[in-house]
Amino acid sequence: MNSDISRILISNDLIKERIKQLAEQITKDFLGQELVIVCILKGAFIFAADLCREINLPVNLEFMSISSYGNATVSSGVVRIIKDLNESIEGKNVLIVEDIIDTGLTVSYLASLLSQRAPKSLKICSLCNKPQCHKTLVKIDYCGFELPSEFVVGYGLDFRDFYRNLPYIGVLKAEIYTRYLDSNG
Ligand code: IMP
Repeated sequence: MNSDISRILISNDLIKERIKQLAEQITKDFLGQELVIVCILKGAFIFAADLCREINLPVNLEFMSISSYGNATVSSGVVRIIKDLNESIEGKNVLIVEDIIDTGLTVSYLASLLSQRAPKSLKICSLCNKPQCHKTLVKIDYCGFELPSEFVVGYGLDFRDFYRNLPYIGVLKAEIYTRYLDSNG
């Protein structure tokens, strides 16, 4: 285990198993139809890569890169689109693939933005969800894991852009934040 991690919340084996179940459900729900997966960068890149390979449908992959305004660990829900979709989603089945839903503000903003582009259907799939942190009503159609309200890293999730490459999801040691806050005010 990485020495900056205090404990592992979800092992890689558990993540893989849950992704298979989610993909099976998605395949069943969209049987006989095409699906556009919108992977929200950067956090969802590993999840989307594993998920799409388990989905047995004609799939198009699109990427949207966003960045939050302000403090890295507190969401305002106001996001800046750094990279928009390459193709129109009008009349298509669209699945937003997110890494984690915390306040829910980011995914709500994205869903309302994409729904204005007249997709046939729009659903949300998130690897993790922190239900106790929601600040808005979000309907998550496919959810991997419900987590307590702790900051987690790994499997695409980052702290200051590090730890995305950990194969599991874990909690960072408190001293890592303290050290960062001490040197950055
Ligand atoms: P929300 O708008 O509060 O739902 O925040 C969603 C975004 O904040 C996610 O897509 C992540 O990029 C980031 N985020 C929220 N919680 C965590 C966490 O525990 N670890 C890493 N990133 C997080």
